[in-house]
Amino acid sequence: MTRYLLTGATGFLGRELLVRLLERRADVLVTTRPRNDTDPVARLTEVVRQTAPDAPLNTMTVALGDVTQDGLGLDADARAWLDAGPVQVVHGAAEVRFDLPFAHMLEQNVGGTKQALSVARALAEQGRLVRFDHVSTAYVAGDREDVVSEDDVDVGQTPRNAYERTKLMSEVEVGAAKAEGLPVTVHRPSIIVGDSRTGRASSFKVLYWPMKVYARGRFRTLFGRPDCLVDVVPVDYVADAMMALFDREEAVGRTFHLAAGPERQSTIAELVVIAREVFERKPVRYIDPDLYMKWLRPVLKPLLMLVRPDVARRGGVFLPYLRSNPTFSTANTESLIELRPPKVADYFDRIMRYAQESDFGRVRLLP
Ligand SMILES: NC(=O)c1ccc[n+]([C@@H]2O[C@H](COP(=O)([O-])OP(=O)(O)OC[C@H]3O[C@@H](n4cnc5c(N)ncnc54)[C@H](OP(=O)(O)O)[C@@H]3O)[C@@H](O)[C@H]2O)c1
Repeated sequence: MTRYLLTGATGFLGRELLVRLLERRADVLVTTRPRNDTDPVARLTEVVRQTAPDAPLNTMTVALGDVTQDGLGLDADARAWLDAGPVQVVHGAAEVRFDLPFAHMLEQNVGGTKQALSVARALAEQGRLVRFDHVSTAYVAGDREDVVSEDDVDVGQTPRNAYERTKLMSEVEVGAAKAEGLPVTVHRPSIIVGDSRTGRASSFKVLYWPMKVYARGRFRTLFGRPDCLVDVVPVDYVADAMMALFDREEAVGRTFHLAAGPERQSTIAELVVIAREVFERKPVRYIDPDLYMKWLRPVLKPLLMLVRPDVARRGGVFLPYLRSNPTFSTANTESLIELRPPKVADYFDRIMRYAQESDFGRVRLLP
């Protein structure tokens, strides 16, 4: 039975992978950053309990670790665990925010990937690396507006923020390791939202922030295009698809979009109509982002800073995503696994309802 080293296990996607591995009775070493007030084992136990209350815990081993540290900052016990047999490294830890400085994102995302790769290389040298699964993002495609192939990496696109840039740089690092002969698989989710069956989410970043602003009813002007394509996928699909790809040897050396793709992608207007019905708000007013940037921003931004400083400061990072996005081909994924993401119309109301009931993560709902 494969043993797994999982980074980012406390995160939105990582916890879903963790419970699926534990449900398979796989041995998993999870790394978590030290927190002053929390015992790491208690923290991970709570994470599992909140995600899947019945998941067995007896094959989970918890280690303190920080992906920015040498060898992921693992202690002697964790290194001994790694020495005890073959290991599949699943690197999910990353800083997932669009508004943080490049230097910080570089350290976390590129530095973290380099450290995870260094652990994988050491395992490979001892003949104990099963494979290295890297969690990237479909948005390494940056400002592209065409159909993105899973085989494209850096084709001259411009990343739209430090997150996209450092995730692209991380993929380049993973590509170099593959060229050295390391067995790597790259998973590229698009925008992850909650569980399609329950709406449950453990993190309310990315798409949730503009929805929160709308839900609160204090701001309903969207500097975006209603027909702008947007690709969202529920977290259960992403985790299930990754698990299915873990089982396929043919996945080694390849990249997979875990995305709605050409058949199931949505538009801003479609998401907003569903959100509007759930939040019972007035319709959104759209202002074209190009018009805003060129003519309105110099006048509106100072005004907005006075009335809604949070919207003025944070809203800007979402502007490119509300203007245009690429289409992500899912040909590689569909060629290897049968699972398909659900259509947005079939589950997005549950996502919005859960977000509203939990007040976008401020109230903890029972699993
Ligand atoms: N969310 C999305 O829409 C989305 C879309 C596409 C791809 N992805 C990718 O999916 C992966 C997981 O994203 P997510 O949304 O689940 O993120 P998340 O909820 O913010 O979780 C991030 C995880 O990374 C860990 N982490 C961050 N910095 C670390 C460090 N220095 N050392 C050790 N652990 C560290 C966090 O640990 P702590 O609990 O200690 O903070 C947490 O477990 C990322 O690689 C992301 O780029 C996400």
